Amino acid sequence: MWKDFPLLPDSASTMAPQVDMVWWFLVALSVVMTVLIFATVIAFVAYFRKKNDGRVATQIEGSTQLEVLWSALPFVILMGLFFWGTAVYVQTQRPPENVMDMYVVGKQWMWKIQHPTGQREINEMHIPVGQAIRLTMTSEDVIHSYYIPAFRTKKDAVPGRYTMQWFEATKVGDYHLFCAEYCGTKHSQMIGTVHVMEKDAYQRWLSGVVATDTPEAAGQKLFEGMRCASCHPVDPAKPTIDGVAARGPLLAGIYGKEVVLKDGGKVVVNDEYIRESVVRPLAKVVAGFEPVMPTYDGQLSEEQIIQIAAYIKSLKDSGAKQ
Ligand code: CUA
Repeated sequence: MWKDFPLLPDSASTMAPQVDMVWWFLVALSVVMTVLIFATVIAFVAYFRKKNDGRVATQIEGSTQLEVLWSALPFVILMGLFFWGTAVYVQTQRPPENVMDMYVVGKQWMWKIQHPTGQREINEMHIPVGQAIRLTMTSEDVIHSYYIPAFRTKKDAVPGRYTMQWFEATKVGDYHLFCAEYCGTKHSQMIGTVHVMEKDAYQRWLSGVVATDTPEAAGQKLFEGMRCASCHPVDPAKPTIDGVAARGPLLAGIYGKEVVLKDGGKVVVNDEYIRESVVRPLAKVVAGFEPVMPTYDGQLSEEQIIQIAAYIKSLKDSGAKQ
């Protein structure tokens, strides 16, 4: 009977047992406190009931010992919970080094997923077991939330910015994917399936699906098609364009670095900054350059901006990717 009525969703990621431990501790603490309080109330009511005359409760006019005890004990327990919960939360924000990048774009009412090797899916996500995966997520319209209960991970997909979540699946199987942020009439149908596969099965699946360009390659095509290269050099060996100083910064090796801005501020070049520079190029102009870049807002979809960022990320110091 309990098989069809699970108390908790499947536990299928490295994070799930840790989240569950915190949750179970909170539940146990609540149960213990509730039982203690109710038992004491009932016991006192019975013991000091009126007709049982002669018994009078001793009035306590103040007890430093007691007050210290009932202040210090909850403090220690709650601070313990705080640090424990924070430690788990911090882990959910820090993907490991060998992470595999995937991209998620939410729109009313579907999830669009892109694999690093170029495969695309809608409302389905095939992933290998035992591999940490980082999702870079955004939305084309309103706020959605990418929720996989079996992994105990959930993060909003927000229009106009990128959010990140990561997980490592530990169990092969099919798991629910939900939108967990009310987003319109078909919110409840914005659902899907996460297929966790053995690594070789995942490779077979990948080769069986027609791959479009990888995000990098698609980004390179867009970069060339939108004529970004007429202002932005991508090869450190050729920092000028037609012999003239380039109008935009050299993009090779720029990803992950800190650049100085015209107003003296600094910014780290990441997906977020690249997106902003495409959509609102004048917001943060790099020092030494004129604010001349036109906006590409509305000309590129969120998926295309993700691809351009992936392409820029792939440009290494040592030379442009050919
Ligand atoms: Cu998308 Cu709710």
